[in-house]
Amino acid sequence: MTDPDFDVEAFRVRALTTLVTARERTTLLTSCVEEPDLTAQHSPLMSPLVWDLAHIGNQEEQWLLRAVAGQDAIRPEIDSLYDAFEHPRSERPSLPLLSPREARGYAADVRNRALDVLESAAFHGTTRLTEAGFAFGMIAQHEQQHDETMLITHQLRKGPQALHAPDPGPAPLHTGPAEVLVPGGPFAMGTSSEPWALDNEGPAHVREVAPFYIDTAPVTNEAYLDFMEDGGYHVERWWSPAGWAHITKHRIDAPLFWRLDGGQFLRRRFGVTEPVPFDEPVMHVSWYEADAYARWAGRRLPTEAEWEKAARHDPLTDRSMRYPWGDEDPTPEHANLGQRHLRPAPAGSYPAGESPLGVRQLIGDVWEWTSSDFQPYPGFRAFPYKEYSEVFFGPEHKVLRGGSFAVDEVACRGTFRNWDLPIRRQIFSGFRTARSGAV
Ligand code: AVJ
Ligand code: FE
Repeated sequence: MTDPDFDVEAFRVRALTTLVTARERTTLLTSCVEEPDLTAQHSPLMSPLVWDLAHIGNQEEQWLLRAVAGQDAIRPEIDSLYDAFEHPRSERPSLPLLSPREARGYAADVRNRALDVLESAAFHGTTRLTEAGFAFGMIAQHEQQHDETMLITHQLRKGPQALHAPDPGPAPLHTGPAEVLVPGGPFAMGTSSEPWALDNEGPAHVREVAPFYIDTAPVTNEAYLDFMEDGGYHVERWWSPAGWAHITKHRIDAPLFWRLDGGQFLRRRFGVTEPVPFDEPVMHVSWYEADAYARWAGRRLPTEAEWEKAARHDPLTDRSMRYPWGDEDPTPEHANLGQRHLRPAPAGSYPAGESPLGVRQLIGDVWEWTSSDFQPYPGFRAFPYKEYSEVFFGPEHKVLRGGSFAVDEVACRGTFRNWDLPIRRQIFSGFRTARSGAV
């Protein structure tokens, strides 16, 4: 098919660079600790790091070598070991997994073959799997998602610091308002045109959103400490019934990784214990904690549609953009992404990344809990496999938006949807609050 506007080679270069970037990160995360730390299970919530490594290779083999290129399985006997649905995370350490050496060799072998496939794959006028290099983008995103998963495992690991990165700079003076009004009206939610969007991000559809106010920055540790000092964890009326039951049963009274020392809260972050920084977005809180804080503050979590409208809708052009700042891919000026830093930046950072209404840090820093359940958009079709999204739809999962410092830009967009159980807080989760405006 000839279409002079379709730049096949640009997609091929992007596929190559995103795959290479992901592998550099994977290699760092699986080589900065000794072998026993790769095969150990650091938390029942997580896989051993060596499982993630071989699973990354196995997914790449299944999609790029078998589905795209029609090749035979390299090691068909290992497929079931690395199938996330056959074995829950807690079971994975007892499986006959590939050793770190074997897993590295396997992932490298798959990658060499995948790069050969990439060199000659047709990207236009093909099936949906290869159009615009989708399968390659999907696999690069999959690896980056596991790189975030592995960083969570590193955070849960006890022991000395293994990872190093520069801190983000101090926040610029932010003189804007604490919240802004997002006018009511329809906007285009989701995408049907983003070439590497995953199935749950589409199709694009019109959503009516009533006027609402939203915080211009994520809720900080300082604000969250106010809630704690006001007895927030001990006042039932701030909590949903399920949230209250959960925190009482598990005696939860602070974000995960926090500990009271004398009069001061300390937190453990990648092997270092440090005072909780006041101006940083609060992190490692569950949906229940975010929901309770918002109620205490006289506010509520934004719905997923409100979050996306705040992040993508340009009131001047009445158009939904790819990112809060426009359509250009993120740069280090826009957002804290990609494990460049191993912490969120202070609230109010990244003025270049703000939305037209002045909302900051919607992309990067911390994943933001929304009030919404993870549900399909009208007209959703699972692609290319039901186990990516479809099997998780329903009221048990809450949606998180915007990405964290730990996720690469290839797996983060204004339309990108993440989800988890409302009890989870080992993830890099924070939130901002909202309130309804006058209609
Ligand atoms: C979208 C982050 C919820 O980690 O369970 C990785 C991503 N899917 N392998 C997850 C994913 C399959 C997924 N999340
Ligand atoms: Fe996976």
